[in-house]
Amino acid sequence: MPTLRSLFLALAVSQTFAAPTAQNTYNVHLEKRQSLSDWPALANSVGWDGWKAIFPDWQSFTTWVQTVGKAVTTPGNFLGEPGATDVLVAWARMMGATKSTPGLMSAALDAVNCEIAAHCLIESVLTGPDGYGSIPDIPNAAPRKPAMKSRTAVPNSETIKIRYGPYKVPSMKTKNLMGQYGMLFNLPNKNLEKPCEGNCTLIGMSSGLEYADGKTANVNEGLWLHHLILFNGGPGRVDTTCKSRDVSVPHASVGAVTSNTERIFAAGNERVEGILPNMGVTDAGYKLYDTDRLSALIELMNENMEDKIVYLTMTYDIVRGHPFKDEIKIIWMDVRQCGTSEVNPPKDKPQFTLEYKWTSDLDAELVGTIGHVHDGGTHTTLSVNGEETCRNNGAYGGSPEYIQENGGGHTQPAADGAHAGPATAHAETGRMVHLSDMHVCSGKDIEIREMRKGQEWTLRAHYDFEKNKGMKAADGEWDGVMGISVVFVRVKGKD
Ligand SMILES: *[C@@H]1O[C@H](CO)[C@@H](O)[C@H](O)[C@H]1NC(C)=O
Repeated sequence: MPTLRSLFLALAVSQTFAAPTAQNTYNVHLEKRQSLSDWPALANSVGWDGWKAIFPDWQSFTTWVQTVGKAVTTPGNFLGEPGATDVLVAWARMMGATKSTPGLMSAALDAVNCEIAAHCLIESVLTGPDGYGSIPDIPNAAPRKPAMKSRTAVPNSETIKIRYGPYKVPSMKTKNLMGQYGMLFNLPNKNLEKPCEGNCTLIGMSSGLEYADGKTANVNEGLWLHHLILFNGGPGRVDTTCKSRDVSVPHASVGAVTSNTERIFAAGNERVEGILPNMGVTDAGYKLYDTDRLSALIELMNENMEDKIVYLTMTYDIVRGHPFKDEIKIIWMDVRQCGTSEVNPPKDKPQFTLEYKWTSDLDAELVGTIGHVHDGGTHTTLSVNGEETCRNNGAYGGSPEYIQENGGGHTQPAADGAHAGPATAHAETGRMVHLSDMHVCSGKDIEIREMRKGQEWTLRAHYDFEKNKGMKAADGEWDGVMGISVVFVRVKGKD
């Protein structure tokens, strides 16, 4: 395969020279995130026979190489490029993903987070992840399942908090295979402990980030719950908005497919709670079965110059068994649906809107939405057939945990260089105020409640970088942003 090999080499050379670099106060050499420069190096180090041995579908691999060649037009912002979803789908395919089998993509994601990436790819397939990521429990850590009082007034409800991990997050000195510093990139956890072993009904979910001793970890100390995607898999679980795709990137990433697994919750660092009783729903919930399996895609970010160990928390509100007739279904709306979720902001356009349209295929009642944007985002809206029904407004700097006083200072790298390291862009102020909450749209906020098959539902994520500071990479370019809405609907149960 001499032509493929030379394409990889050409990519390697061009990426190496194109990747913008920066220097921080620690004299650590920094490169813009997601340069992809390591991929060709990886390809060469493993060798073609090695790749053939790893990937069952060699033909797909060659397709992938060609797709990468076309899609990687902006070296620094690969994941937010429109073509990134195709590249990742092709990548998943070459690792064996089909409509009914997930392939080895989740193993590859473990490898991305390995300390010595090139060797880890093979190692992770054989022995599991190494170095960064999930590590053994810390002695004397706070309890894994601390006792909690119920957060809701629903009779017999329980609030169950589970600390997952711990996770070792690399410092700003360590680069992962995606070319990112201080980043645990989309780490799959294919089997999360469930809040109940038998059947129960989920009536609330929220997520957090903690140190070993149980203290909250947040951006004021350079630690980000960048994102969490929670999946539930089992008989009858179908992802409503990705099921038409042959391969969905987030699903393949956790070793699942859209016909057996659905996305049920998302958290960004703003850590918005999705609690049904707070949305006015006390007689319906998401039915979890003993046959279900929870999994997650976890991305954590560390802006410190030392590695950090943190626990991801999920707090579930449940009622044992299935006491309610009506069921809550969760619909995942996403401006980069079934792909990376990331979008590169337009250049020189501080105000912009990202959009996603979905044709409903169920009859239900809208009960609430959680919106997710990145810094710079003002709000998300949900519309039905062109009429707005729900709006989630963002709030910034709601507590000291969300304010970085010395963003560009000596002890902490700049916030807006999050992935790429201390940035030049906003270092002059040294202060970054981050998105701290998104209003949950529910109850009287909702203008149109009825969801019918065939309606057009539109998610819009609105950004204004003049109003709220966005994150920038080391070379001053905007970091990728997102637009997601987790939509809770009530489906009437049969009498
Ligand atoms: C869970 O619910 C299903 C369906 O109603 C039932 O068949 C199963 O026995 C239940 N499992 C337990 C442990 O109660």
